[in-house]
Amino acid sequence: MTLKNILIAADHGGFELKKDIKNFVFNNHNINWIDLGTHSNESVDYPEYGFKMAEAIKNGDAEQGIIICGTGIGISIAANRYSHIRAALCTNAEMAKLTREHNNANVLALGARIISKETALECVQTFLGTEFEGGRHQRRVNKLGGQSHA
Ligand code: RB5
Repeated sequence: MTLKNILIAADHGGFELKKDIKNFVFNNHNINWIDLGTHSNESVDYPEYGFKMAEAIKNGDAEQGIIICGTGIGISIAANRYSHIRAALCTNAEMAKLTREHNNANVLALGARIISKETALECVQTFLGTEFEGGRHQRRVNKLGGQSHA
């Protein structure tokens, strides 16, 4: 994997998995990461972390990010409120591969209470290691709009 800058954010439901991703994926690869929080198990509101991710990508802090909440649903809905975000909620590595190849997803969403830690780590490695295929998929992604910050 070439050097990448990656953003990561989670609510309290994803706090432990966020630590695991930093320890077992980011630290073992050539990855500079920026942790947008949350930084404890204390209860917080997932929209804030989905929005933080979207704003950080808009600011150019990195091109890709990982977001985590209990199900992955709430935080992905939040991030996808922004037109430049294509956040994909994935439950296995095949989905993580295909959403990079076909959707050029710029954010991977995970549900820490839905999938195992091992599956989540596989999803992250696959997502970060897979390139967009372009071609016919570019036309479809263009139709989604919101390309200016992607
Ligand atoms: C928090 O309890 C939980 O609602 C949140 O992590 C997420 O699953 C929402 O979609």
